[in-house]
This record gives sequence, C-alpha cells and structure tokens, in this order.
Amino acid sequence: MNRDAMLSNFSRLTMSIAMAFAVAACSPTAEPPAEPPLAGADIGGPFELVNKDGETVRWQDFDGQYRIVYFGFTYCPDICPNDVQRMSQGLRMFAESDPESAAQVQSIFISVDPERDTPEIVGEFAAAFSDDLIGLTGSPEQVKTAADNFRVFYSRGEDTPGGGYLVDHSAVVYLFGPSGEPLATLPTDMGAQAVAAELAKWVS
Ligand code: NI
Repeated sequence: MNRDAMLSNFSRLTMSIAMAFAVAACSPTAEPPAEPPLAGADIGGPFELVNKDGETVRWQDFDGQYRIVYFGFTYCPDICPNDVQRMSQGLRMFAESDPESAAQVQSIFISVDPERDTPEIVGEFAAAFSDDLIGLTGSPEQVKTAADNFRVFYSRGEDTPGGGYLVDHSAVVYLFGPSGEPLATLPTDMGAQAVAAELAKWVS
C-alpha cells in the first residue's frame, strides 16, 4: 500500500469515527445520564472538626445531604471571599429554580488556617456570606487530616504588612453526593450562574 492509499484509508476511518460521535451527540433520546466527573475519585472522607459553637462536627454527620465543600482561610484577601461568594450565590440561584433539590445541599467552609481561624471567627466569616453556610476549623492535626482526605494542599505563604501572613492553598469547590461520594467541582471562576447550572446537573 502506498502512502496516499494509507492516508486515505486513515482519513476514511477517522471520518467514520467522527460521524459515529456526531450521531451519538445528536441523538435526542436514550442518552444515559452522564457519569459525574469525579465519580469514583478518592476524595473526601472522615474528618472531625469544630463549628462556631465549639461543637464537634464529623463528615458522616452530613450523610443524606449533598455537600459543597471549600477549604480556605478567613484572612484571605481575595480568592477565598470570591469563591465563597460565588458558591453561595450559585446555591441561592439554584434554590430559586429548584427549591426542593437545593434544600438537600449543605455548604461547608473549612479553614486551613487553624492558628488564626478560631471557631468564632470562622462562624462570623461563614455568616457574612450565607445563613446556610457552615464554617469549620479545628486543631492543626484535625485540619491536616481533613485537607489530606480532600486532596487539598496548603502551606504558610508570604508575610503581610502588620504581622499577618497569607496561606497558599488549593482553591477547589467540591460537590459531594448524599453518601459523601465526590460528584463534580463547581466552576466559581465562571460565575454564580455556572455554579447553579452545575448544581442542577447533579443534585436531584
Ligand atoms: Ni484563599
């Protein structure tokens, strides 16, 4: 077979694959529900943290509820407040279109700065965004265990004027299902509307 024939065979093959995909994508019926992007991922898992009232809160306390989980720190100058703002706003928008489903969702903020983020401070931070957002912190060991289980990285960053410091951290907004299974990440970088649309995909 010469090179041209091979190329032409190859392009016929690619064409038929492309057409098969096109047909599948256009088919209006019999589409199986898409698999959640994080299905089967080893993310999430046991933690024991402390809420604003100093009570112990465990991951399994949320069994039966969908959960939005974000790790950050209350002194964060920009990224955390933006993400938490958009995830809270997205959940409110979702609640306007589907209040029953939204009522099954609990959003949770977990501090990666346990040295400064006391239960009270985390509680105030959470309340500033939504009455329904739970703020959690804990001992450095408790926070480390939680972050490790959720594949969240954090470390002390640059000092800031006035004796403060930043905390470098992963900024991922996770959505989990009622059994604590990871489903998807919520695109806070694309705005609250995109967050609401993603919630509508997976929460029912
Ligand atoms: Ni931050």
